[in-house]
Amino acid sequence: MPASPSDPVAIAPALLGWYDRSARTLPWRAPPGAPAMDPYRVWLSEVMLQQTQVATVIPYFHAFTTRWPGFAALAAADEGDVMAAWAGLGYYSRARNLIACARVVAQAHGGRLPETEAALLTLPGIGAYTAAAIAAIAFGRRAVVVDGNVERVVARLFAIGQPLPAARPLIRAQTDAITPDDRPGDFAQAMMDLGATVCTPRNPQCLICPLRGGCRAAMAGNPTEYPVKAPRKAKPVRHATMFWVERDGHVLLERRPDRGLLGGMLALPTGPWADTPPDLADAPVSGDWRWADGTVRHVFTHFELHCRLATVTLPMHIHSNGHWWPVDQLDRAGLPTLFAKVAGLRRNG
Ligand code: ADE
Ligand code: SF4
Repeated sequence: MPASPSDPVAIAPALLGWYDRSARTLPWRAPPGAPAMDPYRVWLSEVMLQQTQVATVIPYFHAFTTRWPGFAALAAADEGDVMAAWAGLGYYSRARNLIACARVVAQAHGGRLPETEAALLTLPGIGAYTAAAIAAIAFGRRAVVVDGNVERVVARLFAIGQPLPAARPLIRAQTDAITPDDRPGDFAQAMMDLGATVCTPRNPQCLICPLRGGCRAAMAGNPTEYPVKAPRKAKPVRHATMFWVERDGHVLLERRPDRGLLGGMLALPTGPWADTPPDLADAPVSGDWRWADGTVRHVFTHFELHCRLATVTLPMHIHSNGHWWPVDQLDRAGLPTLFAKVAGLRRNG
């Protein structure tokens, strides 16, 4: 029985009924209506899912929970090991915050995650979305959980005409109005599943949607017009040279400074990223540099980076400080995706 548009409280029962039949089975998730999972697993999954898709997260979630099964184990982990295990998930400040959060939980909270949104918000790496998601999913507390999927579903349900990001307060208020006191964790995950599988960005399947009777955009026949987006400014472009220094089957890597982009990760040497191509200005050694063919373009939140790769092979007797990593085991170095892509350019050389 689809919900009626005049009645926001009819939405939760329709959605939860659908979730009982159609919830995705995910390794960090309790079945619909079942007691919650270990809060460690809920927390870890929510941090991983902050900017990364479900399919990408699943193998990382298994690897992390096998290697570090709880807060105590993660708090005691070697930071370099955690950073390397995170490689490929992106947004590496999340990995540093993950360790910091595990340590605070282990040391200041007796190894147990606090249960309220307000207390969760004080922990490293836990923002408004994650605090709400954990409170609802791990502890059954009513919380208003709004991620990108929920934003889209709610903008469509209520045909919210304001563009993002200005529409966010209204979307939040409307999400609050439809969030139930009972089963808030299932409700939040049902909204995410609906957004991921039925109310998708380009092809919403309104005909099979449990909320179609209560959805203003579906009734008007124009769901893909929501959420309305403000026209996007082009991102500024920055340029980088990355340096491949090889000697005796080993390549020179350096650990990036903790603060800043990709901080704490092992990476190829590179100078400051600049408005014009820096060419060989920041080369770590002098030598007979050659350019690999091709450019890697990588999109960050606030800019786009164009990278070229310069390569040099040093004679055996030259010594230089740094991590010399066996070239044939580069896939085990845990390079961030950007650097792994740039390293791949040398095959074009
Ligand atoms: N995205 C963020 N959190 C999620 C969850 N618990 N289930 C599915 N997708 C999600
Ligand atoms: Fe999305 Fe269509 Fe369902 Fe509305 S009816 S919530 S637009 S899938």
